Amino acid sequence: MTRRTIGIAMNGVTGRMGYRQHLLRSILAIRADGGIDLGGGEVLWPEPILVGRDEHRVRAIAERHGLERWTTSLDDALADPLTEVYFDAQVTPAREKALRAAIAAGKHVYTEKPTAESLDGALELARLARDAGVRTGAVQDKLFLPGLLKLKRLVDSGFFGRILSVRGEFGYWVFEGDWQSAQRPSWNYRAEDGGGMILDMFPHWRYVLDEIIAPVRSVYAHSTTHIPVRHDEQGAEYRATADDAAYGIFELDGGIVAQINSSWAVRVDRDELVEFQVDGTEGSAVAGLRECRFQHRAATPKPVWNPDLPATEDFRTQWQPVPDNGEFDNGFRAQWELFLRHVVTGSPYRWDLLEGAKGVQLAELGLRSAREGRRLDVPALEL
Ligand SMILES: NC(=O)c1ccc[n+]([C@@H]2O[C@H](COP(=O)([O-])OP(=O)(O)OC[C@H]3O[C@@H](n4cnc5c(N)ncnc54)[C@H](O)[C@@H]3O)[C@@H](O)[C@H]2O)c1
Repeated sequence: MTRRTIGIAMNGVTGRMGYRQHLLRSILAIRADGGIDLGGGEVLWPEPILVGRDEHRVRAIAERHGLERWTTSLDDALADPLTEVYFDAQVTPAREKALRAAIAAGKHVYTEKPTAESLDGALELARLARDAGVRTGAVQDKLFLPGLLKLKRLVDSGFFGRILSVRGEFGYWVFEGDWQSAQRPSWNYRAEDGGGMILDMFPHWRYVLDEIIAPVRSVYAHSTTHIPVRHDEQGAEYRATADDAAYGIFELDGGIVAQINSSWAVRVDRDELVEFQVDGTEGSAVAGLRECRFQHRAATPKPVWNPDLPATEDFRTQWQPVPDNGEFDNGFRAQWELFLRHVVTGSPYRWDLLEGAKGVQLAELGLRSAREGRRLDVPALEL
């Protein structure tokens, strides 16, 4: 086996996503498994170069995992000849500037979503990357979740007949931070720091709907801040200036109506933290992060509305699980492997910065729709 090393400057690895999903569960997990087999006796070996603002914290992570390369200077990381890929999992407002620097340095870039805070910024990044001839990727992890892969399998099989509607329910209670600490960083609840439900989740809903169901053609969003005062990591009270819930209606190609509730102020009475119900003429399915269950037309019960009687049927037992029929990797890792292969072999890869910009577009239109109280078309994007 010959080893082909690829240096990846990883920025934001002290954060929740950067550390757990991208460093631990993706890059270090790939290394623990011996790298990525490229075929022909060649193996791709990712070599992370940790980048962060706080020397103490970055060094601690490097030492914990036996990594030799780390720096507090993005410029140094980009100037390192080993660096071929720049990865960004920083807070959202810090992203665009760093991606621009990486592209200008001729690096391939892979980034968390949203790729930028504005559509103009996201499109400009995609243009710069195209002109620089570098390869790009935007994280679209939900596409690689077992539950959604099974849902996609059902769609591809024609199981649904004509798809009529999608109902998505996402969310859980995020503690206010006073009597119990919040389980998400406080910047998520401050608009001035890049927070807010629409900016966070509409980029996900864009690619989930576009890729699994049908392209999104319009959006109507109602957003609100249910919890106006929270407490930060230091226990200090702050005003939550960002939306913590968004109620969205999306029209898709073919007249499909998707309605997705996203809320950090809701208590969970579901099997999973996100669930999508898809109803079609031939059958329906409910998909979560891991599981997906379906009900065929022929197995559909015929309930009769009668409020005088208790429910006569146990509706939730009338669904069947979609079998795994295979093993599912961590979704972040699966996408990393595809991207790194794409960088070194040119293999097909379609979740690039233009696809990432579509997510930013839906978020921007969602925010405008909520502000103006009206439905907005989602025009096609071009570079
Ligand atoms: N794909 C997903 O499912 C998913 C889930 C959560 C978050 N995210 C995205 O990942 C990114 C990080 O989110 P997180 O929850 O890990 O946040 P986090 O607060 O845990 O981590 C943020 C990282 O950015 C760094 N940082 C903080 N302030 C900074 C500043 N002013 N300038 C530069 N760097 C700064 C921190 O040191 C840390 O490394 C966000 O853009 C978010 O939208 C994606």
